[in-house]
Amino acid sequence: MNNIVPHKFHISKEERNVMNGHNSFVVWFTGLSGSGKSTLANLEEKKLFDNEVRAFSLDGDNIRRGLNHGLNFTEEDRKENLRRIGEVSKLFVESGTVVVASFISPLEKDREYVKNIIGTKNFVEVFVNTSLEECERRDVKGLYKKARAGEIRNFTGIDAPYENPVNPDMEIKTEEESLEEALKRIILHLNKKLEIKA
Ligand code: ADX
Repeated sequence: MNNIVPHKFHISKEERNVMNGHNSFVVWFTGLSGSGKSTLANLEEKKLFDNEVRAFSLDGDNIRRGLNHGLNFTEEDRKENLRRIGEVSKLFVESGTVVVASFISPLEKDREYVKNIIGTKNFVEVFVNTSLEECERRDVKGLYKKARAGEIRNFTGIDAPYENPVNPDMEIKTEEESLEEALKRIILHLNKKLEIKA
């Protein structure tokens, strides 16, 4: 941090929010691989877009091919993965954009870390609660099978932990609730926070 003096820019987040006609914050989907985070996030982003809300998705599988290429799934690398995503999300929020983020983010302490980077009031945590049994049954990407066969190490839920969020803003139980119902509930929750101005 030596010799770095932050520059103060003229336009604030609040002014951008006024121009856009809505607030900006992060909707953070956490849950096991295959729990349905990205599916929900994708539909969510579309609903927001159709409602003329500036929204943008950040997703584990995509970010790990670009910005976070080279990071793997050790505890240390997952933390660095999430730290960078936290910082990028913060910039998006400053720019007036709603971030729809889907990352396993398995550890409570790392989610807290990200929340602190972004700021608690700008962080909506959505726990996509699908059981390991169901994720493994779906195995959309075939990764659980590989993890069970020992071909992938440190796989969340198999030989790496997932800690359920202690106090999420929302919980989606995909085995009990339809996608449409879940989406509707999330939108209702977000609409309050967006404070959309006509
Ligand atoms: S996180 O733990 O650091 O938050 P992130 O969401 O970025 O994970 O990436 C998870 C995605 O990477 C999974 O959906 C899966 O497709 C893929 N993946 C590859 N190896 C692993 C692994 N060992 N554990 C979990 N996911 C993995």
